[in-house]
Amino acid sequence: MKIAFFDAKPYDKPSFDKSGAELGVEYKYFETKLNEDTVELASGFDGVCVFVNDTVNARVVDRLHEMGIGIVALRCAGFNNVDMAHAYGKVHVLRVPAYSPYAVAEHTMALLLTSIRRIHKAYIRTRDFNFSLAGMTGFDLHSKTVGVIGTGRIGRVFIDICRGFGMKVLAYDKYPAEGLDNGDTVKYTSLDRLFEQSDIISLHCPLTEDTYHIIDEKSLAKCKRGVVILNTSRGALVDAEALLEGIKSRKVGAACLDVYEEEADFFFQDFSGHILEDDVLARLISMPNVIVTSHQAFLTEEALTNIAETTTNNIVEFTRSGKCPNELCYRGGSAEDCKSGKCF
Ligand code: NAI
Repeated sequence: MKIAFFDAKPYDKPSFDKSGAELGVEYKYFETKLNEDTVELASGFDGVCVFVNDTVNARVVDRLHEMGIGIVALRCAGFNNVDMAHAYGKVHVLRVPAYSPYAVAEHTMALLLTSIRRIHKAYIRTRDFNFSLAGMTGFDLHSKTVGVIGTGRIGRVFIDICRGFGMKVLAYDKYPAEGLDNGDTVKYTSLDRLFEQSDIISLHCPLTEDTYHIIDEKSLAKCKRGVVILNTSRGALVDAEALLEGIKSRKVGAACLDVYEEEADFFFQDFSGHILEDDVLARLISMPNVIVTSHQAFLTEEALTNIAETTTNNIVEFTRSGKCPNELCYRGGSAEDCKSGKCF
C-alpha cells in the first residue's frame, strides 16, 4: 500500500518508516503541504497522510475522489483543516485522537512557568554573565485560579498538573466530563465567570464555529487585569490583534502561544534570514511577556511513536475491513460513536 505523506519533516520519517515497514505501508514523503496546487502529487497513491497545516477543502476532496483516492489519514487529533461535510461519501477521514495528552499539557505548563518566572530572560542574561535580578519578579502559582476551556484528554491532564501546584481550577466545556467537578478545587462554571475570575486561562478545546476567536476583545474585557493567556490548541481560538491590544494596554499580563491563526505561512520553517511579513506576529514576538513556540507542544518521542503507529494501524485496519474506530463521522465525532450513520 502506498501513501503520499505531505508536509513531511525530518523528525517524522524514522517513526513512520518503522511502523510502515512492520505493517506493509510504504510512505512517500513530500515536503510540500497538501493543497489545491499540490494535490496532483497524490496521483497513483492509495491514500494521503496529512498534518495540521495541510488543506483538505472541497476542491482537494473532489480531486482526491476523482483520482480514486479514498483515504485521508490525519496524523493529528484536530481536523478543522478538513471540509468534513464535503468529504462525506467521497473520502474516509481517519485521525489519531490521542497520541500523548501529556506532551501538550506538559508543554503548556512549561510555557506558563517560563513566562511567569522569566526563565526566558534569565537564560539569556546569565549566558551574558549578567546576574542582575532587576525585572525578574514573578508570582506563585499556588492558590491562583486557572480557567481551563475544554476538559477533554489534554485539558484534564493539564488540570491534574495545575492541581499538583495547588491551583484552583474553573472549567468550561460544552460537554462537561462526569466526575471532574469536585465542588472544591475543580469546578465547572459559565464561560463569563471563567473569564471574570481566572488569573490564568488555558485553551484546550477544538477549533469550531463556536470557539473561533473565543479570546477576543469582548472576552478580554471581562478578564482580570494581568490575566495570562495560554493557547496550545489552535491559533484561531485567539484573535491575535485583540490579544496584541490587550498586551499593549497591560490588560493581558502575559501570553504563551504554541499556535497562531496564520501559522501555516510560517511555523515549521526557518525564516531567520528573512523579513517577517506578518506584523502582528512580529509585534507579539517582540513583547517581553509573550512566548511563542511553533506548534511544538506535541513533539515528544512518545507522541511521535504513537502518531506513527496509530496512523499506520488506521490505514491498514480501514483497508482490510472497511472500518476503523478512528474514522471521523462527517459531524466530527468518531465513527464508533456516530449516531447519524454518516461516517462515510
Ligand atoms: P478532546 O477531544 O479530548 O477534548 C476537547 C474538549 O473540548 C472536549 O471535552 C469537548 O467537549 C470540548 N469542546 C468542544 N467544543 C467546545 C466548546 N464550544 N467549548 C468548550 N469546550 C468544547 O481533544 P484533546 O485531545 O484534549 O485536544 C484538544 C485540542 O488540542 C485539539 O482540538 C487540538 O486543537 C489541540 N492539540 C494541539 C496540539 C499541539 O501540538 N499544540 C497537539 C494535539 C492537539
